[in-house]
Amino acid sequence: MKTFQYTGMPRVYFGEGALETALTAELPQIGRRVMLAYGGGSIKRNGIYDQVCALLHKADKTIIEFSGIMANPTYAKVQEGARLARQEKVDFILAVGGGSVMDCCKIVSAQARMEEDIWNAEFSEHKYPTDFLPLGMVVTASGTGAEMNNGAVITNEETRQKNGMGGALARFAVLDPSYTLSVPMSQAVSGAFDTLSHCMETYFGRPSETNVSDEINEAIMRNVIRNIRAMIAHPEDVGVRSELMWDSSMAENGILKLGKQTDFQCHMIEHQLGAYTDCNHGQGLAVIHPTVYRHLLKGNTSKFARFAREVWQLPAEGRSEEELAAAGIQALADFIREIGLPATLTQLKANLRPGSPDPADRDLLRRVADSTILSGGCARKLTADEIFQILTECL
Ligand code: NZQ
Ligand code: ZN
Repeated sequence: MKTFQYTGMPRVYFGEGALETALTAELPQIGRRVMLAYGGGSIKRNGIYDQVCALLHKADKTIIEFSGIMANPTYAKVQEGARLARQEKVDFILAVGGGSVMDCCKIVSAQARMEEDIWNAEFSEHKYPTDFLPLGMVVTASGTGAEMNNGAVITNEETRQKNGMGGALARFAVLDPSYTLSVPMSQAVSGAFDTLSHCMETYFGRPSETNVSDEINEAIMRNVIRNIRAMIAHPEDVGVRSELMWDSSMAENGILKLGKQTDFQCHMIEHQLGAYTDCNHGQGLAVIHPTVYRHLLKGNTSKFARFAREVWQLPAEGRSEEELAAAGIQALADFIREIGLPATLTQLKANLRPGSPDPADRDLLRRVADSTILSGGCARKLTADEIFQILTECL
């Protein structure tokens, strides 16, 4: 294990009915003017908006609405939110949504208290925000674990970069699994696969020797796999949604990363694919993962063999270590197809909005490869050329 410091996570209110418990406890501690931030309107259709507004009114808060936060939030939207927060002298931001709403608000919270353009500050001057508008989160779609950390993934449409930024850590997070019942099944599956990806990207980081973080990680991965299948079979089962919601948080609350240098190379590739095509995050990851792992297999066989044995529960008998390792990656690829996620860029294309750039276009893939951040924690550091090769193998 590497050395580490652990500073904890936001206060978590988990379970059915958690919103009322959380807001009753938290609202008396915050200022009067609350920015209620949300996405394209799902919270109005499923009743969460009404519940939140009723509790805010009961606590005598003034609501300032910041709506229309899109999936894969843009930097322009962040700036819109920061301007509104300043103009309206907002005291507190309440983000109600999935990863996109939460991420946008983490950076709004920082930019609202910062004169300098935060993108320039972080990426040109390597200066990170230290002062934030206080933030709380109500999670309506699980998978990203965005409620647990201060990282935010923002798309800069001008520079064609989808980058991880440093933003605010929420004071508290409300996790009511019943809120996720209205998420369309394709998004629920893609979100849960994102959780599995976070686990894998941590597991295959360094060190690869046995350590407690990886053993906890194996348990979470088995749980995610079992519960994705259970969710598809029993969409109304809140118990299953509870498991997946907490898996999602566990993958990103730092616990699995203690003592590890994480990998996240698949994420870096997917983010750039997203910057060029606006594809769904979990779906993009599903396409990329098995091919990246086939490239990393050589030289890392024992960890991939362990993944096959401990996560996919494949028998070692009758197989060499190499065969077992390859079978584990195949089990992952088979699972992706079984749960209906796209397995190729061509399949991903079918899920994009009409008029979106073609993710099967080789020139586009070259630009994606050339702009992908190369992860130092990857089991073997890739090059832009190998990433381009990987992407063409995903066609
Ligand atoms: O916008 P609304 O109308 O709310 O609809 C959303 C959106 O269309 C809908 N939705 C959310 N909750 C719902 C619901 N529909 C019905 N009922 C509900 N209860 O779901 C759609 C997708 O929402 P979105 O927030 O975009 O999905 P997700 O949670 O997967 O977030 C994806 C974003 O998070 C970033 C991704 O890159 C992507 O931009 N990530 C953030 C991370 C982090 N901060 O730690 C880590 C991840 O690796 C990821 O990169
Ligand atoms: Zn992710």
